[in-house]
Amino acid sequence: MARTLPDVLRCDWPAELPEPPPATAQALERAAAVLRHGGLVAIPTETVYGLAADALDEEAVAGIFRAKGRPATNPLIVHVADAAMARSLAASWPPAAAAIAARLWPGPVTIVVPRGPRIPAIVTAGGPTVALRCPDHRLARRLIAAAGVPLAAPSANRSEAVSPTTAHHVLESLGDKVALILDGGPCSRGIESTVVDCTTVPPRILRPGPLSRAALEEVVGGPVVAPADEPRATAAGPSRAPGQQPRHYAPRTPLEIAGDPLGRVGELLDAGRRVGLLTTRAAAALGSLAGRRELVVVPMPADPQAYARLLYATLHALDQRALDRIVVEPPPDAEPWAAVWDRLRRAATPPLPPLRSARSDRDP
Ligand code: TXA
Ligand code: MG
Repeated sequence: MARTLPDVLRCDWPAELPEPPPATAQALERAAAVLRHGGLVAIPTETVYGLAADALDEEAVAGIFRAKGRPATNPLIVHVADAAMARSLAASWPPAAAAIAARLWPGPVTIVVPRGPRIPAIVTAGGPTVALRCPDHRLARRLIAAAGVPLAAPSANRSEAVSPTTAHHVLESLGDKVALILDGGPCSRGIESTVVDCTTVPPRILRPGPLSRAALEEVVGGPVVAPADEPRATAAGPSRAPGQQPRHYAPRTPLEIAGDPLGRVGELLDAGRRVGLLTTRAAAALGSLAGRRELVVVPMPADPQAYARLLYATLHALDQRALDRIVVEPPPDAEPWAAVWDRLRRAATPPLPPLRSARSDRDP
C-alpha cells in the first residue's frame, strides 16, 4: 500500500506580533477544519508535541488510540483554551483545581477532576475523572479556539516510545498515521506536563513534570502528595494513576543509569560495544575515555530544566547512531530533578543480559 507523507506546515509567530502572520493563520485554519471533520493533527505545545482530535467526538478520539497503538485503558489529556472551557468539561471544580488553573495556567500542569457529561467515556478510559490542561503555547490555544472544541491529545509518538519535541520527531514516529503536522519549532520544556489529581485532599502528583511540587504547594496553599511519599506498591501499581506503567518513554537503544558511569562505559567499550554517554562532566573529566572511537559523549546541562529540555531530543538523536547501549550518569538526588529522574527510570531497560564480548556474540 502506498504510504502518503503528512503535510508539515511551518507556523512562525514572532513573540512581538499579537496576531499570527498570514501563512500561520492559514495553517491554523486548515488544521481547525481537519479537527472539526474528525481528523487528527499533530500540534506543538510547550512540553511535547501532541496528537490532537476533537475530544467531544468519540470516533475521532478512537483514531488517536489506533494511530498510537495505545491501550484503551490509558486515558487522554483534554486540552482547553482557558479555565472557563475546562470548567465546562468538569462535573465539579475542587478548590485545588481552581487555584492551579487561576495561577499556573496556561502552563505545563494537567489537573484531574471529576468528569462532566460532555466528555465521552473513551477519553477517560471509562473512568470517572478527566485530565485537563491549558497549554502555554499560543499556537495550541489559538487552534483550540479556532476549532471551537477541546482537543484530546496524548504525546504524538507510538505508545511506549520517546515523546516528540520537534515536528521531525513526529514525522519519524507517526508519519504514516497523521495527515497534518503543525511545526512550531522545538518545545521549550521538553518533557510532559506535571499531572495532579485534584479529586483528593491533599492533591496528589500522578506524574512529576516541569512544574515542581513546591510550586504547586505554594499555589494550593497546603501540602501536595508526591509519588516518592507513597508506599512503593501503590506508586508502581495500576490503581490510582492509569497509564503510569513503569516502562515508558523508552528509546530503541537499551539505556541504563550507571552509578559508576565511566567504569561502566569502559567495560562496555572493552567488550566491543558502541556506547552513548549522557554526562554533566566536562570533557577533561573523562580521563582515558576521551577520544575513544566507539563512544559518543553528550554533554548535558547541570540545570534540571535545561536538562529536561534536551533529554528527549538527545535520546532521539542517539537512536539514529546505531549504538549498542546508552549509559546515563545519575543526576543529583534532589527534588528539582524529580521529573528527569522519573523519565530516566522509565526509559531504562529492565534487567539487561550479562555482558559478553562482541566477538563471541558474532561467532557461531
Ligand atoms: O505535556 C503533556 O501532558 C503532553 C502534551 C501533548 O500536552 N501530553 C501527554 O499525554 O503527555 P500522554 O497521553 O502521553 O500522557 C497523559 C498522562 C498519562 O500518564 C495518563 O495516564 C494520565 O495523563 N491521565 C490522563 N487522564 C487521566 C485521568 N483521568 N486520571 C489519571 N491520569 C490520567
Ligand atoms: Mg505519552
